[in-house]
Amino acid sequence: MAILVTGGAGYIGSHTCVELLQEGRDVVILDNLCNSSEKAVDRIREITGKDVKFYRGDILDGPLLDQIFADEDVSCVIHFAGLKAVGESVEKPWEYYHNNITGTLSLVDAMRRADVKNLIFSSSATVYGNPAEIPITENCPKGQCTNPYGWTKSMIEQILTDIHTADAEWNTILLRYFNPIGAHSSGKLGEDPTGIPNNLMPYITQVAIGKLPELGVFGDDYDTPDGTGVRDYIHVVDLAKGHVAALKKVEANGGLCVYNLGTGVGYSVLDIIRNFEEATGVKIPYQIKPRRAGDIATCYSDATKAKEELGWTAGLGIREMCADSWNFQKNNPEGIQ
Ligand code: NAD
Ligand code: WQD
Repeated sequence: MAILVTGGAGYIGSHTCVELLQEGRDVVILDNLCNSSEKAVDRIREITGKDVKFYRGDILDGPLLDQIFADEDVSCVIHFAGLKAVGESVEKPWEYYHNNITGTLSLVDAMRRADVKNLIFSSSATVYGNPAEIPITENCPKGQCTNPYGWTKSMIEQILTDIHTADAEWNTILLRYFNPIGAHSSGKLGEDPTGIPNNLMPYITQVAIGKLPELGVFGDDYDTPDGTGVRDYIHVVDLAKGHVAALKKVEANGGLCVYNLGTGVGYSVLDIIRNFEEATGVKIPYQIKPRRAGDIATCYSDATKAKEELGWTAGLGIREMCADSWNFQKNNPEGIQ
């Protein structure tokens, strides 16, 4: 039986494929490469010494999905495919709603036709909006998202919940990721954003390598210990392992479940700069800038539920996250090519 990984050539998907293959699973990737390179699939093969089947195609392509389900013995789908740039989603809401929501509906419809009803979905802590409680448990109510990207995650969660309510044969796990950073220890896989990065860690690594002159720190007047924003950064390899743990839950007919995947620890922007400098020996020049629209002060998880029910906890610390991000950047100054 194979696991179909949509978006498996991307940042989190590629790391998850490595962990699945290392667990002895068969993996089939479907990715249209709109934000990734087929070279990432080669690197998955290099790291694991195992083969992985790759389909270049779109989750919106129903006939292709039917062909994949007919040709491959798929037992579960891990669904990463989606557009994820917050700022771009404000400029191109239709594209985000269509790709992420229509794409998920297309995938789920093909799964119904193939009678494959095991699904793990990449959601986000962004669904909590400005969280009603810190640390954030899964019982914290979902909030108002500040951008179309966030709404796609919130709406897809609702859609998948309603589909499970109508048909209890579905085993669906919604995984709410906090802030994934880091890279594979081999230096072969990592985050490879196009253009100027929006997220903190890729911005820092591009400053470190000299592509960008300095980091802007967005606000130092938040109600946090040092005034800068606090987030729950999680190593992408820990996150990938969280999917292997979730898969076991799905296979035990777990029904509908929601889990936070975070470390439970919050770090400020200045903490991250300091840890990066200490882990790598590279100085990061920065300047305090105004707050970024849509940002919240503090966001970190209570990770107890995943520990108790999935037996999963994040094991890698902030130093490893910084060192591995830098190692990937140094080894791949132009990304995965
Ligand atoms: P990514 O862009 O690196 O990976 C997504 C992959 O999906 C890319 O390879 C892209 O080519 C592919 N894709 C996009 N639309 C597609 C389509 N219509 N058909 C087929 N392939 C398509 O992003 P990532 O950081 O690996 O994120 C993976 C998932 O996790 C996304 O759904 C994202 O929204 C979610 N997520 C990411 C973060 C984060 O900070 N990186 C946080 C929370 C949730
Ligand atoms: C982290 C902190 C910034 C860049 C985003 C999405 C979220 C999720 C993860 C997908 C904040 C500060 C950043 C910079 C800075 N993605 N910062 N200078 O905003 O927590 O979450 O990625 O689901 O939906 O919104 O992550 O890395 O952009 O920012 O000072 O150049 O770093 O203000 O406090 P964020 P981030």
